[in-house]
Amino acid sequence: MTLLVVGASGYLGGEVCRRAVAAGQRVVGTYHANPGAPAGVEARRLDVTDRAAVRALVAAVRPAAVVSTPYRYDDWTVTADGAANVAYAAAEAGARLVHLSSDALHAGRPEPYADADVPTPVFAYGAAKAAAETAVRAVDPGAALVRTSLIVGDERSKQVRLCLAALAGRGALFTDELRCPVDVGDLAAAVLELAASDYAGPLNVAGPDAVSRAELGLLVARRFGLDPGGLRTATSAASGLVRPVEVRLDSSRAAGLLRTRLRGVHELLG
Ligand SMILES: NC(=O)c1ccc[n+]([C@@H]2O[C@H](COP(=O)([O-])OP(=O)(O)OC[C@H]3O[C@@H](n4cnc5c(N)ncnc54)[C@H](OP(=O)(O)O)[C@@H]3O)[C@@H](O)[C@H]2O)c1
Repeated sequence: MTLLVVGASGYLGGEVCRRAVAAGQRVVGTYHANPGAPAGVEARRLDVTDRAAVRALVAAVRPAAVVSTPYRYDDWTVTADGAANVAYAAAEAGARLVHLSSDALHAGRPEPYADADVPTPVFAYGAAKAAAETAVRAVDPGAALVRTSLIVGDERSKQVRLCLAALAGRGALFTDELRCPVDVGDLAAAVLELAASDYAGPLNVAGPDAVSRAELGLLVARRFGLDPGGLRTATSAASGLVRPVEVRLDSSRAAGLLRTRLRGVHELLG
């Protein structure tokens, strides 16, 4: 079977590619601004905002399954329209679709969010991820929508890099913004399991431990052998930014459905 990973040059997409190649699959992976893909992957350049190019590539590759990861934090066209274009092309080719979504589409509240909770975005990135889900579901009701949280792992993780920067005195980490970090390898394995399944709709796929960004910074300090005393912290409340504050994803359904164990951040980094 051929797997098409859209966004193979990204952190999660690259890990999905490596695991699929190791499992013996033919993998075609796309990049946009950063040429390259892991060894064993057939790399193709693709701009997901170019609907005709997306359709042409998917029709040529004829994948059995498509994993769709692209986003740009501040670019609606990539995050929302791009996801719609990939979904359209995958449906046209009869391919199974796993779309990567985010906890950022929730407003934030003390209670954990269930898989089927409808988006309540409060900022532009969350709204774009919510719009992407709506478009993907309209085009392909059978697609799996993987709602995930902070993706952690080695220094290639943006979240780990943010922590390392704050530990070095560059920027600060919020003490009041809670998330459920997930390991990039666990998430990639879960995505591949879902690609081989017929799960339809949103599914929370995140770790079981909710921590603040500042707590994540302390765990990163311990993992990298750094002095936690240098960590600069702040509060989202005082920052003036409009961002979801407490977002806990209840991933118990995924934990029961998948063979992959979704490890908590204390086990991962502690
Ligand atoms: N990172 C997190 O903590 C986190 C948290 C929750 C949800 N998510 C979701 O998880 C997914 C993967 O995140 P990630 O951190 O692995 O992302 P990433 O490392 O930033 O990778 C993003 C990918 O999108 C590609 N891309 C950007 N613009 C594109 C365009 N116009 N056309 C085609 N491809 C384009 C990039 O290609 P080039 O680099 O080659 O330009 C890259 O391969 C995203 O959907 C994100 O919303 C991430």
